[in-house]
Amino acid sequence: MQETFTKIFNNTASKTTKFFAPGRVNLIGEHTDHEGGFVFPCAIDLGISALAAARPEKTLRLYSMNFDSEFNSPFEISFDDVHEKLNINRSWVNYPLGVVNVLKSHGYKFNSGVDILYSGNLPDGAGLSSSAAIEVLTVKIFSGLLNFDIDGVNAAKLSQEAENNFVGMHCGIMDQFAVSMGKKNHAVLLNCSTLEYFYAPLELGDCKIVLANSNVPHSLVGSEYNLRRQQCENALKDIQAQKNISCLCELTQNELDEYSYCVNDPVDLRRAIHAVNENSRALRASEALKNGDLLTFGKLMNASHVSLRDFYEVTVKETDILAKLAWNFEGVIGSRMTGGGFGGCTVSIVNEKSVDKFIDEIGRKYKDLTGLKADFYITGSSDGAGKL
Ligand code: GLA
Repeated sequence: MQETFTKIFNNTASKTTKFFAPGRVNLIGEHTDHEGGFVFPCAIDLGISALAAARPEKTLRLYSMNFDSEFNSPFEISFDDVHEKLNINRSWVNYPLGVVNVLKSHGYKFNSGVDILYSGNLPDGAGLSSSAAIEVLTVKIFSGLLNFDIDGVNAAKLSQEAENNFVGMHCGIMDQFAVSMGKKNHAVLLNCSTLEYFYAPLELGDCKIVLANSNVPHSLVGSEYNLRRQQCENALKDIQAQKNISCLCELTQNELDEYSYCVNDPVDLRRAIHAVNENSRALRASEALKNGDLLTFGKLMNASHVSLRDFYEVTVKETDILAKLAWNFEGVIGSRMTGGGFGGCTVSIVNEKSVDKFIDEIGRKYKDLTGLKADFYITGSSDGAGKL
């Protein structure tokens, strides 16, 4: 990276600093963050690295070793000119630009130029939060180089704001929070309505976390995601006419049952049923993990997938196939799609001794059934983003 940095930015004068941001896998608690519920993700050991340096001329220069191989010069812009999302073929720059825009709106001053070289091994569009990783990473770079005083929780909030208001994806806080606040060997149980969080030791005994990337391009994710949020919002409004609540996940399963007659549209009701049940599953699963009860944890993961398939309707045929193959495989404790959905990855808890066979057999059957090649990652958990 140092060689590329020197070549691309023609900058030998500045001393570079290295930063890293992990991706995340959500173990359970899917599509509950935007409804004020609990999520249970962990930061993973795949992620995005960056080399960055400040320099006197007040422009921002960006280059990605993953996306920019056809260019031999960086993308360059004056900080004063960052106002809105750019419609260009180097569209990835909108993530760092979103961060600049949000930091400016919070009064942070860019008094020197910055060069940033990114390089990652996090598969793009796989539901492992590559966008949150680049956002939080960029916040950490600016705060590290320009001495902005931004703690981990605020880094997550500012990154989410960049994604919501600049990029236009109305995501919740989970991804940015996990990327910023993750802790090695722990998952984070986060209450998304208060941002209270607990680190739960990720004690999986002789099991491993195995991710299977369906490699389905998930182009619908932005619009369909925003539509799901809207449907939850509709259900909430309907229930609020009869009951004083501020978010769907305030309801217990029994209460939702009692007030289900208020929800006018059956589709909106299905979305609400998922959110409320999934919130309960996230709490029960984190409790099961605490008690060393992996079997219950696994069953709740399976149930989460079924609910995302039948009630929230964000799985695709390919992730359904991956989950089902895993459920029928001896040595799998539990398996479900993870992240926003519409493609992406499944996460499975697999007995160590069975991992090689799992990858081989499920990879082969998936190819036979879909014609697609799945990629597998055996992942550990990692610390949140920061300077290395
Ligand atoms: C995406 C969003 C998150 C969360 C998940 C679903 O990853 O960015 O905020 O809503 O989907 O749980």
